[in-house]
Amino acid sequence: MAYKNIVILTGAGISAESGVATFRDAGGLWEGHRVEDVATPQAFRRDPDMVQQFYNARRAQLPSVDPNPAHYALAKLEGELVGDVLIITQNVDDLHERAGSKNIIHMHGELNKVRCLGCGAVHDWLADCHRESPCPTCEAEGQLRPDIVWFGEMPMFMDRITRALSTCDLFLSIGTSGNVYPAAAFVAEVGRTGYAESVEINLEPSLGASLFDTCLHGKAGTLVPKFVQEILEA
Ligand code: OAD
Repeated sequence: MAYKNIVILTGAGISAESGVATFRDAGGLWEGHRVEDVATPQAFRRDPDMVQQFYNARRAQLPSVDPNPAHYALAKLEGELVGDVLIITQNVDDLHERAGSKNIIHMHGELNKVRCLGCGAVHDWLADCHRESPCPTCEAEGQLRPDIVWFGEMPMFMDRITRALSTCDLFLSIGTSGNVYPAAAFVAEVGRTGYAESVEINLEPSLGASLFDTCLHGKAGTLVPKFVQEILEA
């Protein structure tokens, strides 16, 4: 079948072969802290330096990692499909952009951006961010935070996402464990429309695997290019 409107949800597993650690495969620990204890508004209020350091380390890693064949295959799909392709990524890295994808929603924010708690401005930010870093817009110190969705906060762009899920004819989920909502519920939401097919590509069955029409288990870097080729040849 030739798809016309494809929505792709990606998670940490698509960047794993690029060398970016997933959240849960290694126990989800960072220097002895549970990720859930670092990525929260409460943690930022309690210890902003520790939280900034966590994101500074992840931001500093970005230039040393590259997109892998799965990212490139999705960019090729967007470029060659006669129809629409939207990537909704839970990832805060920039590997989809660097592979050439254009239509991307970062529902959990982006490592390369900071937001001012004072004036609300969002700025591109490639260097380390510290407590004393002033906001380029309002110049206040101590107000910049990573532009990342933390536990307990609402993911970004949910209206656009809900609309996209209700009109797609293929929902493809790649490299996500299905632990974090609302992303974990997208497959059920798509299922309710009755006309979209759903496919999971993941190293192992995700928590929501039984809700997908088709599950392909293995490495994204191998399976995604193959799957994309099949779609483009259909
Ligand atoms: P997880 O770390 O929970 O899950 C990654 C999934 O990728 C696992 O199911 C792995 O089996 C799979 N995987 C690992 N290597 C793979 C490979 N080479 N090819 C295919 N699959 C592979 O990451 P997410 O589901 O993305 O949120 O986590 C969701 C959210 O939880 C993250 O966005 C983050 C975290 O808390 C926030 O920061 C708000």
